[in-house]
Amino acid sequence: MPNLIDGRAIAEKVYVDLRREIAELKAQGITPGLAVVLVGDDPASRAYVRSKDKMCRELGLHSLKLELPASTTQTELLNRVEQLNADASIHGILVQSPPPVHIDEAAIVRALDPRKDVDGFHPENVAKLVLEDATGFVPCTPLGVQRLLIESSVNINGAHVVVLGRSMIVGKPLALLLMQKNAEGNATVTVVHSRSRDLVEITRSADIIIAAIGRAGFVKIDHVRQDAVVIDVGINRVDDAATERGYRLVGDVAFDEVSKKASAITPVPGGVGPMTIAMLMSNTVKAARQSL
Ligand code: GUN
Repeated sequence: MPNLIDGRAIAEKVYVDLRREIAELKAQGITPGLAVVLVGDDPASRAYVRSKDKMCRELGLHSLKLELPASTTQTELLNRVEQLNADASIHGILVQSPPPVHIDEAAIVRALDPRKDVDGFHPENVAKLVLEDATGFVPCTPLGVQRLLIESSVNINGAHVVVLGRSMIVGKPLALLLMQKNAEGNATVTVVHSRSRDLVEITRSADIIIAAIGRAGFVKIDHVRQDAVVIDVGINRVDDAATERGYRLVGDVAFDEVSKKASAITPVPGGVGPMTIAMLMSNTVKAARQSL
């Protein structure tokens, strides 16, 4: 059995440090505040928003949860963002993705005050990631993956990392983060995606495989070199009549077979997911600190 990377336990370590930092900010009269905006009623998005709100409360952060109807217009949503930009009690703003199709998501992201963009999606923060300017915000899932690797003593420096998926939320920022010129980066990064030729040959040369393509069980044993480290970012709902909810969550990795070959692997759930929320809390605390 490979080493199972326990995202919940590592997230708890992050919270120990965060609680101390939050206490220090409160002693200076600042309670970090996060606004989470959900438009529409997608069940998965609703569940994510609920867990973000719950974690804020557990840490003693100010939490504002805005649940808007699917009929909310672009103008109404922009007005809400403007209000939150101007609200001194709010240091971080997250608009849950994906919004309904009539919403121009890129325009909403550009309307955010980049100093409150704890998702790291605003062009100014994307630029700061490219420029390796540490005052910017890095998207939460890539940050969480990097932290999981560091806390699990996986060597990133000089390693060949293959990222499957090129999304703006995970694949692209993760590649930029792990190739940064610093002790927590210095990886040789290859990004493969749905159109890549010779995908299996590429993934088989990876020291670390990070799957973020949104396809249940896509990464099979043949994709993986003996003793590679495998990080599974996928959260896919598959029908399962045997469960109470009628579905279960599975990753982008065929866990049962790949775990026979990997030296370390993350489970789904309980791997990357808890780290994404921990990094959102961390970015919110950073936004509050930088507002001083
Ligand atoms: N939807 C899935 N992941 C994310 C995320 O990290 N941020 C936001 N805003 N929406 C998401």
